[in-house]
Amino acid sequence: IQTDALARIAAAADPAALEALRVEFLGKQGTITALLKTLGQMGPEERLEKAPAIQALREGVAGALADRKAALDAAALEARLASETLDLTLPAPDSPRGTVHPVSQVMDELAEIFADLGFAVATGPEIEDDWYNFTALNMPESHPARAMHDTFYFPDAAPKGGKMLLRTHTSPVQIRSMMAHGAPLRIIAPGRVYRSDSDATHTPMFHQIEGLVIDRDIHLGHLKWTLETFLKAFFEKEDIVLRLRPSYFPFTEPSVEVDVGFAIENGKRVLGGSGDAPGHGWMELLGSGMVNRKVIEMSGLDPDEWQGFAFGVGVDRLAMLKYGMDDLRAFFDGDVRWLAHYGFSA
Ligand code: PHE
Repeated sequence: IQTDALARIAAAADPAALEALRVEFLGKQGTITALLKTLGQMGPEERLEKAPAIQALREGVAGALADRKAALDAAALEARLASETLDLTLPAPDSPRGTVHPVSQVMDELAEIFADLGFAVATGPEIEDDWYNFTALNMPESHPARAMHDTFYFPDAAPKGGKMLLRTHTSPVQIRSMMAHGAPLRIIAPGRVYRSDSDATHTPMFHQIEGLVIDRDIHLGHLKWTLETFLKAFFEKEDIVLRLRPSYFPFTEPSVEVDVGFAIENGKRVLGGSGDAPGHGWMELLGSGMVNRKVIEMSGLDPDEWQGFAFGVGVDRLAMLKYGMDDLRAFFDGDVRWLAHYGFSA
């Protein structure tokens, strides 16, 4: 029995075959179990004589079963490890990646362009004091120009009189910069501004970038050259033509509205060329002017010594023009499909 059992156990190919052999030899009805039972019917002498061989057979078979089981388990583990090996050189599955919002990208680009022209970046609070937003910009309490700004007011009184408000433009940063740093000065101030207004081209929150140069002997020519240089760099186009129109802002004198010439290509406005050329037109782009003497004075500087120019541009509008987007409201919906459509997602 022993030789036959050990040979068959060694040949068992899988755990099921091995279990069948265990039952055949050592189970309740097993052949070796039957042999063990015969011991009970023997007389003491016969039992003493035969018991050791039968016990040895049982132990030998049990040991062989255990060894074979260990060998099968080890082989199964080997196989599983081999099949589950991770290939770390395989490319990882693609997952959607975030992207810098077009408005932030444009503000970064503008900061870079103006850095090359020697402008530093200045900031101011979005919750602003009435005095910086209006009064110091030559818009006293009763000034009609205040009505042009649909202002969000807070109920709290402002330290300098009037009320606290959400700044309606980035121009208060002009005042804050002059008061903090004096002259000469060359800054841009990008940031959020707020007006109570909403349609396809107006959102209650939008972005402006303010520019301010204060120095000696500054004139309108400096303003025009600066705007031309920055627009050519921003739109990556030499053929940008500007038209300066007289306008009115309380904080600049004279005030100049700047238009840019465009052509229509495939139903879209494309900047470039004179707006007076056939099939072309002029688009209003920004407000600017020479800083009003009163503003320089209220900021603590001597207007006989220091002059300057200032301008304010809508950043969202620049982004729309550069990337051919047509609804301003989509900028603030946070829809990643819209970003992807304009090439802004990975
Ligand atoms: N602050 C003005 C506006 O928001 C723009 C402007 C800035 C005009 C600087 C002149 C000088 O409309």
